[in-house]
Amino acid sequence: MDIRFLGHPCFELTEGDTRVLIDPFLTGNPKAPIGPDEIDPTHIFLTHGHADHYGDIEAIAKRTGAQVVAIVEIAGELGNAGVENVSDPNMGGTVDFGDVWVRLVPAWHTSTTPRGTANVPAGLVVGMGGKVVYHLGDTCLFSDLKLVGERDTIDVALIPIGGHYTMDRHDAVKAADLIGATTVIPCHYNTFPPIETDAEAFKADVQQAGISEVAVLEPGGTQTL
Ligand code: NI
Ligand code: MN
Repeated sequence: MDIRFLGHPCFELTEGDTRVLIDPFLTGNPKAPIGPDEIDPTHIFLTHGHADHYGDIEAIAKRTGAQVVAIVEIAGELGNAGVENVSDPNMGGTVDFGDVWVRLVPAWHTSTTPRGTANVPAGLVVGMGGKVVYHLGDTCLFSDLKLVGERDTIDVALIPIGGHYTMDRHDAVKAADLIGATTVIPCHYNTFPPIETDAEAFKADVQQAGISEVAVLEPGGTQTL
């Protein structure tokens, strides 16, 4: 599996012919290495409705016909906006497409969509090709992160470290410890001034504690499992 970092919360996971786009915030994202017309996902998964995650989801889904998964309130809104293939799980639900599955798990945060629909934010556990990737979404530190790592062996955890809107890099070390992933990729930092932080210091803290390997990706960079 290839994991390509597209800036802030946005990642593309590719395994064979399956291309999963998570949180497609490209237009208006100062760290995005590509525009919304330069990607061709088969699936789009959304953690929550804030504009820096929702992003270009409507335009990309309509252009590509990609299968979308979003929590039920956002799924309903996307359907009303003309997006055709939308699955609408709620917290704890798993949607299995055969080549890829995704489960919604808790994230401690707030959220409304750009249209104002209130929704509960989620983390996403994604399985493809025998590997499991856990995108934490936007969240603070909370102890139930441990339960996610107890159900599935997490190969890669995508953890926000920027602080202000999410956990900071110090709480993210504890989050990494609770999850126990083989590899951690930090995200949701250095996009805007309030969330500037030192990803290399986070990497050193996690690796010196013997928790996980940390791969700091530049936007556009890819980690291959
Ligand atoms: Ni948010
Ligand atoms: Mn965010």
